[in-house]
Amino acid sequence: MSVETLEVAMHSRFRSLRTLAAVLVLAAPAGVVATAPAASASADSRAATLVPTPPMGFNDWNAFGCEVDEELIRETADKMVASGLAAAGYEYVNIDDCWSQKSRDADGRLVPDPVKFPNGIAGIADYIHGKGLKLGIYGDAGTLTCAGYPGSLGHEELDARTWAEWGVDYLKYDNCNNQSDGSQADYIRRYTAMRQALDQAGRPIVYSICEWGSSRPWEWARGVGDLWRTTGDISDNWESLRSIIAQNAPLYPYAGPGHWNDPDMLEIGNGGMTDTEYRTHMSTWAMMAAPLIIGTDLRTASAQTLAILGNRDIIAIDQDPLGRQATVVSDRDGLMVLDKPLAGGDHAIALYNSTDHLATVGVAAADTGLDPARGYRLKDVWTGRTAEAATTIEAAVPAHGTVVYRVRARQSHESVPPAVTVDATLPTVVPGADSTAALTTTVTDRGAQPLQRVRVTVEAPAGWVVAPTGADRRPRLGTDQALKTTWTVRAPDDTAAGDHPLTVTAHYRWGRRTTTTSSVLVATVVTPPPAGRRALSKVLAYSTANGLGPVELDQSNGGAGIGDGNLITIGGRYFNRGIGTAAPSEIVYYLGGDCTRLVTQAGVDDEAPASDPATFTVYADDTVAATSGPVSSGAAPVTLDADLTGVRWLRLVTSGTAGTRTDWADPVLTCGDAGPGDPVLPLRQTIFSFEDGTDGFTIANPGTGGAVTQSPTFHTDGTSGLRVETPVPGNWFGAPVPASLDLSGRSGLAFDMRTEDVGSVGEIAVQVGDAMTWCQAGRWAWTNPHSSRTVTESFDDIECPSGVTLDVSQIRVVWIFLNTGGVVHIDHVRAE
Ligand code: GLA
Repeated sequence: MSVETLEVAMHSRFRSLRTLAAVLVLAAPAGVVATAPAASASADSRAATLVPTPPMGFNDWNAFGCEVDEELIRETADKMVASGLAAAGYEYVNIDDCWSQKSRDADGRLVPDPVKFPNGIAGIADYIHGKGLKLGIYGDAGTLTCAGYPGSLGHEELDARTWAEWGVDYLKYDNCNNQSDGSQADYIRRYTAMRQALDQAGRPIVYSICEWGSSRPWEWARGVGDLWRTTGDISDNWESLRSIIAQNAPLYPYAGPGHWNDPDMLEIGNGGMTDTEYRTHMSTWAMMAAPLIIGTDLRTASAQTLAILGNRDIIAIDQDPLGRQATVVSDRDGLMVLDKPLAGGDHAIALYNSTDHLATVGVAAADTGLDPARGYRLKDVWTGRTAEAATTIEAAVPAHGTVVYRVRARQSHESVPPAVTVDATLPTVVPGADSTAALTTTVTDRGAQPLQRVRVTVEAPAGWVVAPTGADRRPRLGTDQALKTTWTVRAPDDTAAGDHPLTVTAHYRWGRRTTTTSSVLVATVVTPPPAGRRALSKVLAYSTANGLGPVELDQSNGGAGIGDGNLITIGGRYFNRGIGTAAPSEIVYYLGGDCTRLVTQAGVDDEAPASDPATFTVYADDTVAATSGPVSSGAAPVTLDADLTGVRWLRLVTSGTAGTRTDWADPVLTCGDAGPGDPVLPLRQTIFSFEDGTDGFTIANPGTGGAVTQSPTFHTDGTSGLRVETPVPGNWFGAPVPASLDLSGRSGLAFDMRTEDVGSVGEIAVQVGDAMTWCQAGRWAWTNPHSSRTVTESFDDIECPSGVTLDVSQIRVVWIFLNTGGVVHIDHVRAE
């Protein structure tokens, strides 16, 4: 295929691109003191009348990207009414990016895309208003929107007037292509210009500032916007949700009627999280008095999705007229307690467990804003159950789950069951008659009344044996007393590795009634690794202990949440496989006598500040099989080779100054009859290594001045990688693949990337078959400036136009898209 054909193909694809915002991390230059305009009383009261409670509605972006049109908006409004969501409070139907033509008309006005919106925005506004709903639109405080449509910078007055004339009720105002010097003063200027334009246009329009938290809008935007985004874009996965909650929860002092923190739109229903996680999403948004903007396809939403979005009790907490964002009462070890005072004296208390295991989350009533009382009536807004707590508001909360109670001081005539917490802990289970795991269950009476005839049972999968080794019953438990029981757990020989649920139930009487309370505990089962030479990062560990944050797989230890590291880098060398820890650390693997050898590199990560040396030791059962001696930061990695023949337990231990980033790079475990000649699993198939040049890579739109060059700066195999420079935001680069390439049996594509001064996000696309059909995958997670990571895209997530299936033996071209302008380095484009 000629370069021309490529460019044409590229160009047509460009128009339907789902591009994304450049989430720039901005800092006000030293010496620039931005002053926030004092929120005038009139601005505040105007806002208060428009959004006295957080706005609720729908926006197409999270589910549809650029594929928005009138039919979608109409059908969504219909469904909003028919499903009862409108009656529950959802009101705004918001159109996001990509609704206009690429250029303004002769008078400088924005023009709706006539194919997507044949009746214009005014036409759809009439329809929406006819349903008793309101219409939202999207604009950008820059020269172009994030997807490359005309922006409103310098056109504020005309655009605000245009929207007002069309009957628009809500404006989301984005921040791409902003021409900003990054100062807070510039942000205030650009966003205030639209505030003034909206005021002049004369129609009440909710003003939603979307600058991703870059200029700390909570410090200045009250009185300018009615709500402001506080973070980068949400994506439909747990790590994104967890990190956004962590960023937005502490901002509670800044929210109130007409001035809301906006942690972004809802992902509930989009399929990337469990229902437990989606309930956490809805629960924490309600507690944080966040806008509830649905981001899923309502027309096909499941009953479960509609039930989460439509839960009236949780909506009432979000929409409470007091308009307070919950205070963070405590936030420790991944467990958070939020307290939201409600009109009329009730409080909503949320118990949020961001860890990966069942955990008790609780708070003394005296540490909340609740008035002292003899007891508190708790209503669980998700289960509908009520219970009474005496002094402590608490629950055993599943991993990634949130319990939300609506709490009220107890009325004397009420007869409510006592609150009971059923917690349990269980280490990893190794199957087989000769190994037992110790389970501990704890039943605590948190009610004001005693529990009588308390008994605990554990329900395990068929074939498992669970037996108490201590008392599993107690005639009576008083307030704040606990029954702690230890048990042995045996899983049958053939139990599969992975997660298996166990249900722990407390049975008891209170007053004259018999009741139960249960918790589900997830048991993790490990089995000896199968035969073969395997990257150790792909072997499930029995246990991990780490000096800082979680142990990371195939990246360094970032220190806080999972997935926040970089590629492992030791002495200037990058590794795309390995385990990132922080001293002191210990990772234990169960080998069951089936393995023979571990070979690994070990060293202190380059990103760690210069620190004392660290030591790496490999233990085979209880003996030292290999040790590094002290390794300094900046030094080349040390090779360790450990004989593991017949060993049951493998332990990797690092020691040194607490928090020193210690990496196990390229660790390969050999098990069964595998030998040194066998390939390392999981198999990888290199497509482009950039060892002999640029491997045919070209920039799709060379007119923009981009370039690719072979470069030794960054490489994860061989000695060179590819340096890519795209001066404009948004460009594809890629190359035809060798004619014989057959990726059958592989699960997806991957490459390694390092950013320079600008972070990036992007997409992968392939062209398949003789028709060179474009098949494209969604965006990958944002990569910060000066960081590195592996980008992976499963073939399952690469979507082809309807009627085309992705035949991985017929891939002709591989493309990578970068949303931002700047320099990035890539290497080792491969199938895995
Ligand atoms: C930015 C915003 C998103 C969405 C897209 C549209 O990324 O933060 O919410 O509006 O732009 O291009």
